[in-house]
Amino acid sequence: MTQSIERAAGFIRSGGIAAFPTETVYGLGAAAFDDAAIRKIFTAKGRPADNPLIAHISSLSQIKLLASQLTPCAYKFILNFFPGPLTVILPKHRAVPAIATAGLDTIGIRMPADEVAREFLDACATPVVAPSANRSGRPSPTTWQAVRDDLNGRIPCILQSTATHVGLESTVVDCTGDIPLVLRAGAVTLEQLRDVVPATRLHRPRANAKPRSPGLKHRHYAPQARVVLVAAPDDARRGPTSAFIGIGSSQSAVGFAQATMCRDVADYAHFLFRFFRECDAAGIKTIYCQTVPEDGLGAALTDRLRRAAAR
Ligand code: TXA
Ligand code: MG
Repeated sequence: MTQSIERAAGFIRSGGIAAFPTETVYGLGAAAFDDAAIRKIFTAKGRPADNPLIAHISSLSQIKLLASQLTPCAYKFILNFFPGPLTVILPKHRAVPAIATAGLDTIGIRMPADEVAREFLDACATPVVAPSANRSGRPSPTTWQAVRDDLNGRIPCILQSTATHVGLESTVVDCTGDIPLVLRAGAVTLEQLRDVVPATRLHRPRANAKPRSPGLKHRHYAPQARVVLVAAPDDARRGPTSAFIGIGSSQSAVGFAQATMCRDVADYAHFLFRFFRECDAAGIKTIYCQTVPEDGLGAALTDRLRRAAAR
């Protein structure tokens, strides 16, 4: 554990791995062209080898090291949303090792907006591939303590910073074809993407089709407790092993063993994964999550809630 950006970057520069903050969730990084270092990420997380990593950059000039081609829609998204919580998928440069992209000929690229992340990536002096810094199958970490709880003893360094601002993972948009496809909803919303490229569509995978985003087929975003979606607090069953998260007044929290009442959708997104982890630590059996309208950031939040509830 360290608060020194320079020290954490030293691990990446010398062929190691390090966890670092971004505005979405904490990532577990390795130098993007270092095969052996990237292997350590998969081992530490217990991540299936068929799940590709996102490359993180601190300057636009690094894109040409990672992608063989910059498509017109990617160019527009990058101009409008970098730095920020958006990952664009592009054809991969042959210099990027196959292990980084799980053998795919495409690569996800993102430039975080978080100041500590920017300084860290700058100090690494290389693009850094990183998945979320959780054990595979656990909710993504939004605090350095969550990284420690999952990966203590399995990784040599955690760069300590504040809780992540957004709290949900980046929007992933496939820009390899003529029509941009949103593979994962996030804080850059479909509406915002369509303002820039009107043809942008949500990718709706057909049952049994080969997934476009391999990570989406794995169980994800879920706590150990059962997650039940409800429209209102009174639709939930209160009791000593039940918990509630939603938007509203603290009066509705009465009768739950754990409860977080959020101000708005952004606040809800910010706290959701941390709440899942708190509930697991407290031995909660059922977490009731209030549904939200599916526009704006509500689409990403709804996506994570549905995945957590599906099993
Ligand atoms: O906000 C985020 O994106 C965080 C922070 C650390 O940047 N990272 C993150 O990484 O959430 P990860 O590995 O947990 O999720 C990446 C998702 C997975 O669903 C993966 O399958 C998909 O992006 N992905 C990565 N590269 C891809 C590619 N070339 N084609 C399709 N999907 C890809
Ligand atoms: Mg992840």
